[in-house]
Amino acid sequence: MARIATKAPARKGAPKKTPVKKSAVPKAAVPKAAARKGAGQKAARKPRAKAFHVSLGNNGKVIECARHETVLHAALRAGIDYPYACATGNCGTCISKLDDGKVSMLPRNDTSLTPEQEEAGQTLACRARPRSDLAITWLGRGRK
Ligand code: FES
Repeated sequence: MARIATKAPARKGAPKKTPVKKSAVPKAAVPKAAARKGAGQKAARKPRAKAFHVSLGNNGKVIECARHETVLHAALRAGIDYPYACATGNCGTCISKLDDGKVSMLPRNDTSLTPEQEEAGQTLACRARPRSDLAITWLGRGRK
């Protein structure tokens, strides 16, 4: 009768694992500040990205929008029921009137915002990132 091996045979020449004792790490290697409970969390935090104020003409609310986020994203994060469908610049649902301020636009489908609309001061909230404080009014569905 054949015996079934329950343990893998030790490889020849493989280094033997040695358990690392906690005391094996010299105390001097750990700075005192890092050894404190919770230390390092404060230092690891990144400073907040510059945020702009976005005033929404539809409901009079003012939200914060970071430089790197779109007006739509900031509005949704703030719990505003901003009209949108694709959030990728393809449908035009989030079309808005930029009443004041400056935005930079992410790539979008030219049919969702024509050059004439852009010249008339309209923008897509899902593609617009603030470059100053803004005043904006969505033109889509009549949500408040
Ligand atoms: S949500 Fe579709 S273009 Fe902005």
